[in-house]
Amino acid sequence: MAERPHVFVSRVLPGGDGPDSPLARLRAAADVDLWTGDDPPPAEVLRERLAQADGVLTMLTERIDRALLDAAPHLRAVSNLAVGFDNIDVPACTARGVMVTNTPGVLDETTADMAFALLLAAARRLPEAERAIREGAWGQWHPTWMLGHQVTGATLGIVGPGRIAAAVARRAQGFGMRVLYYGRREAPAFPGERATLAEVLAKSDFVSVHVPLTPETAGMCNAAFFAAMKPSAIFVNTARGGVVDQEALIEALQSGRIAGAALDVMTPEPLPPDHPLLTAPHLVVAPHLGSATEETRTKMAHLAVGGLLGVLAGDHPANVLNPEAAATDRSAR
Ligand code: DGY
Repeated sequence: MAERPHVFVSRVLPGGDGPDSPLARLRAAADVDLWTGDDPPPAEVLRERLAQADGVLTMLTERIDRALLDAAPHLRAVSNLAVGFDNIDVPACTARGVMVTNTPGVLDETTADMAFALLLAAARRLPEAERAIREGAWGQWHPTWMLGHQVTGATLGIVGPGRIAAAVARRAQGFGMRVLYYGRREAPAFPGERATLAEVLAKSDFVSVHVPLTPETAGMCNAAFFAAMKPSAIFVNTARGGVVDQEALIEALQSGRIAGAALDVMTPEPLPPDHPLLTAPHLVVAPHLGSATEETRTKMAHLAVGGLLGVLAGDHPANVLNPEAAATDRSAR
């Protein structure tokens, strides 16, 4: 590898460009080819830029697949500015000796804030209530108008007891909620009681999903899932849109099979304003903002830069997803 590695960065990084910024750290150690567009680089541009790159710092909008990897013979490191990495074919990276890093840990509390904000907004019908004011539909105070769902003392069901889910569960405890969780494995330190998926869905007033998007979880929140929830329950998703069968969700909301949903993630992203999902009643949506605070995005960028530089320096940073890639014979590429 050249002494100063050549890296492609697919968007301007959070944290500014001051001397201690993530971008300045990267520039101090590598030749940086920075994509400054607001939208992702088109596929052919990404392919062309990666042809020379030793490393790439990607967003969740870039697909790193076999074809792209085959067109990037020098690539050693892919650093994703996200904790989720469903946009990256990690086994294909491993097979080519390319290490992949992500940004775990630093966004847990911020994403949990968003999950809880959505839960509260849906429970207390905040977007609908605000619309009512703006549309002149706010009449005199009425004892039965715009009634929402009680959060304090309710039961929260968690699907996928990871770090973000644990941060959501801690917030729920502050609201006096009972927390049930479903996970394939026991999570001994998780602040909640383990239950089967059927029990979680049958008993919870709010169901919040926190599984990564994988072939096993794709579409797992389907018609049967919604049918197993209480009709008074609200569904919350801050994980990935792909874990939800959106047609089933629309049907569950339209038929009143569930009481509401609050989504930070959906399919596709961005969601066109005329998408059928937006016609569903009792739906609160946010445009994938889970980790979107200045502080957290800057921490993510530092972690992503550290991962990229660490791999390129021959280290195994703690956030490497596939350390086994080090054993791949790169000369076969
Ligand atoms: C992630 O990190 O995976 C989020 O979706 C974006 O912060």
